[in-house]
Amino acid sequence: MQDQINKYIDEVKGFATETADELEAFRIKFLGKKGILRGLYSDLKEVSADQKRDLGQAINALRQAADEKLQEIKDSMESQSTVQGQFGDLSRPGNPLHVGSRHPISIVKNRIIEIFSRIGFNVSEGPEIEDDWHNFTALNLPEYHPARDMQDTFFIQTDPDILLRTHTSSVQVRYMENNQPPIRTISPGRVYRNEAISARSHCFFHQVEGLYIDKDVSFADLKQTLQYFTTELFGKSKIRLRPSYFPFTEPSAEVDVYWGLETETDYRMTKGTGWLEIMGCGMVDPNVLENCGIDSKEYSGFAFGMGIDRIALLLHQISDIRMLSENDIRFLQQFKGSL
Ligand code: DAH
Repeated sequence: MQDQINKYIDEVKGFATETADELEAFRIKFLGKKGILRGLYSDLKEVSADQKRDLGQAINALRQAADEKLQEIKDSMESQSTVQGQFGDLSRPGNPLHVGSRHPISIVKNRIIEIFSRIGFNVSEGPEIEDDWHNFTALNLPEYHPARDMQDTFFIQTDPDILLRTHTSSVQVRYMENNQPPIRTISPGRVYRNEAISARSHCFFHQVEGLYIDKDVSFADLKQTLQYFTTELFGKSKIRLRPSYFPFTEPSAEVDVYWGLETETDYRMTKGTGWLEIMGCGMVDPNVLENCGIDSKEYSGFAFGMGIDRIALLLHQISDIRMLSENDIRFLQQFKGSL
């Protein structure tokens, strides 16, 4: 009997399980009403008195081992289920995080800032509600100048001197008034014009103005800067400068970038020419420098201005400018992951 009890003790100590059913079967087998221990206790009655003590102790040791084993496995099962209760199924894939996306205007603006900052341009800003001087007069557009009609202006009704800026060129003026050359700055911002809203034009849009003033700045510097810029932004280095007119620059030009005619979209976008107009530019008119307190005999410079919305439409093949201000989540979500 002693040998049999020792075997049971070994069995109990070696027992392991992870399921509650197996554990219950173990309990019934050893500790149940018709279990091994009950049997042993009743067998004990029949043994002779001199054996009783040793056998009794052995059976007690078996019972203790079985009790301990049961408790030990129960504890470990419970602690596992509390871990699960706390953290759920740790192998389950996580819930997706809903991150927002940058607006296409911001994406293009940041790209432009980054490209120009690499060649030493800083970023400057000015007010959207402007006065006549900064938006027009200082830029060589005195009162009654016909070129004022190039840009349909929103005036503040009670004061004809105050308006919503029609271009970011106003920031040039403010920057030159407050800083002496050398100047290398770009000024992104929103501008307003009293135009009918359609797929191609809106009453507000965004521009980036560029200004470079120093000694001996030439048209060649302007062209090289623009070439660097278009290569970086569009991956296209072929540009052409068409003579144009802006009151604040002399000479003035419009910049076209050669987009190519490889696909049907290229044809459509460039109206079959392969060329896309992307900005206006020129050498800052000496009058403008003088208006802003810069000696035009000592300094010269160039300026340029481009529309961010237009570039965003081009780069992302967006067909309607109004989508940029409609805040349609389905549209905006497509720009996830872009900086
Ligand atoms: N201000 C012009 C516009 O809104 C764009 C422009 C053209 C800006 C030539 C310039 C420039 O600085 O030199 O249409």
